[in-house]
Amino acid sequence: MQVIETIKEMRAVTAKYRTEGKTIGFVPTMGALHEGHMSLVRAARAENDIVIASVFVNPTQFGPNEDYTRYPRTFDEDCELLEREGCGALFFPSPEEMYGMAGSLTWVSVDQLPEHLCGLHRPDHFQGVTTVVAKFFNIVDPHRAYFGQKDYQQSVIIRRMTADLNFPVEIRVMPIVRESDGLALSSRNRYLSADERLKALALVDSLRLAEQLYSQGEKNPAVLTDMMQRSILGGAPNAKIEYIAVVHPDTLEPLKTIKGTAVIALAVVIGTTRLIDNVIIE
Ligand code: PAF
Repeated sequence: MQVIETIKEMRAVTAKYRTEGKTIGFVPTMGALHEGHMSLVRAARAENDIVIASVFVNPTQFGPNEDYTRYPRTFDEDCELLEREGCGALFFPSPEEMYGMAGSLTWVSVDQLPEHLCGLHRPDHFQGVTTVVAKFFNIVDPHRAYFGQKDYQQSVIIRRMTADLNFPVEIRVMPIVRESDGLALSSRNRYLSADERLKALALVDSLRLAEQLYSQGEKNPAVLTDMMQRSILGGAPNAKIEYIAVVHPDTLEPLKTIKGTAVIALAVVIGTTRLIDNVIIE
């Protein structure tokens, strides 16, 4: 696997693949890779001739009091995992390479969609995400790009940005990968102590409870979120619930009643670790 640190070299590599008529599947990541990321690489391999991944802890998507400096950086393990899955090239730029020494004056931001869920609690986060993903699309020039459903709001916003800016990139969103006990995989799970790791199961338990109540006929989001809140605080009494919401799958608007497809999403802080999870109910 080639490791590429400059935009110039990345462009040359991608141009060569395109000249050879190869299709490129792109998996953007912030590193600290786990089985969830690997499922994206496997999907990209199955659907394209070449897989290019990126590892870049993007400073512009972290708020001033968030975990940018302590975000796990595990480059050697990441390379090993990517190589094992047959990734062809890894783009590994520095912040200066991506944003220049003076930083960026240009931002890509999507209206409305960030005004829900995580966006309410992380101002400017999605602007940082869409800006860096737009830059990656310009640099890597992939045919398809792969994202995880765990960041549901991110996937909806990136889909919209890609359509609105006419990027010729197919956005593929892959299902959440969970531990055998149900905890959704996340790079941030490694912050959890053993006790917090157990308490974190309250998130998936509450989502399963909501799915069960829904399948028994409960269509009222207020009832579902109330039951979920009780369930989370039952399993993790000191958890700080940031939000529990039942939203439209495309607009992310909160629903008053569930008619078609809906997304139940939550963000909860366990100890000092902020975790998110969701389910799509049909
Ligand atoms: O989902 C992530 O890891 C990041 O938000 C992404 C898409 C790589 C952009 O930095």
